[in-house]
Amino acid sequence: MKKILISTGGGDCPGLNAVIRGIYKRAKHEKGWEVYGSIEALSGIMRNPPELVKLTRSKTAGIHVRGGTILKTTNKGNPLMYPIKDEQGQITFHDITDRVAARIRELGFDAVINIGGDGSQKISEALHRHGIPIIGVPKTIDNDLKGTDMTFGFQTAVQIATDSFDKLVTTAESHHRVMIMEVMGRDAGWIALHTAIAGGAEICLIPEIPYEVNKVLKRINDRYEKGRGFINIVIAEGAKAKDGTITFSAGEEGSEHVRLGGVAFELARQLKAAGCKQEIRETVLGHVQRGGTPVAFDRVLATLFGVKAFELVLEGAFGRMVSFQNNTITSVALADATQSYNHVDPDGFLVQAAKGMGVSFGD
Ligand code: F6P
Repeated sequence: MKKILISTGGGDCPGLNAVIRGIYKRAKHEKGWEVYGSIEALSGIMRNPPELVKLTRSKTAGIHVRGGTILKTTNKGNPLMYPIKDEQGQITFHDITDRVAARIRELGFDAVINIGGDGSQKISEALHRHGIPIIGVPKTIDNDLKGTDMTFGFQTAVQIATDSFDKLVTTAESHHRVMIMEVMGRDAGWIALHTAIAGGAEICLIPEIPYEVNKVLKRINDRYEKGRGFINIVIAEGAKAKDGTITFSAGEEGSEHVRLGGVAFELARQLKAAGCKQEIRETVLGHVQRGGTPVAFDRVLATLFGVKAFELVLEGAFGRMVSFQNNTITSVALADATQSYNHVDPDGFLVQAAKGMGVSFGD
């Protein structure tokens, strides 16, 4: 009997369970493959004994509605940059993908489906170069992966952010306040931009368009002068002023990323320093954007990605990542998908349309 391994890596994301269920149904029900999950990304298979879960009908029934991942996940222990502590307690990062590949072979898997963001897909690509029959499935609320028009999880994050934005408008209006709402997205402004358009924000600040504090302040003052005594701002966590830096804190030990967050407070400080007279309040949405049940669109996209991933396995089309392009589910080479990122184009139609609607980007 053939055996397939599924892994979910990086931050959790609404829709992960729907992908797992999609793979399971196609692989087990239709083709009779055994389906295993590695607990906490590929860390599970590297443990002694390996931490694996054999998926069954009861373990996967109805999970497409649930957020998170039944396989658990981690954004630590990336095999491409595996943290190893020396005797002095100094951490250095090493590529251990050859060891991961050897373990996958040892465990006798016929194929691997790796569900994750840019970091995970770079791991998929490296494992493919080590001869592992692997398929990638793109996930991230940030929507910053190349090779696909959209990742699952993004629409859910935008919906949650928009619902929150709508709630903040009522307070802005009632108190004549400047409300700043910070959303996730790392170096990409997709969540911020979509939320700003959906919610009707007056100002949207994204990493791709560094802002000028004075221009942001002018937009605020203009609006108050026109008698509209409140304003709503959406800012992406990775945004920064033209002459400034991103707002971050150090990641946990062994984590390859810094932790973004807090730019809403930084913007409030900058505005006050520039002479803003209005009352300002900041809301950092944080992980609620990744939580809870996926919206229907993400359930569908994630399910289709799962089904397509297993079809690629049956075709033997390894080294590819499933993708959504021009309203079709297709696939791209992992080597191409991991070359660069999908950022908001400052000259693209989305930004131009928002500007045409009167949204200021502070540029
Ligand atoms: O990549 C998804 C994401 O939610 C980013 O938007 C955010 O910066 C990061 O993960 C947060 O990571 P963590 O859950 O490790 O704090």
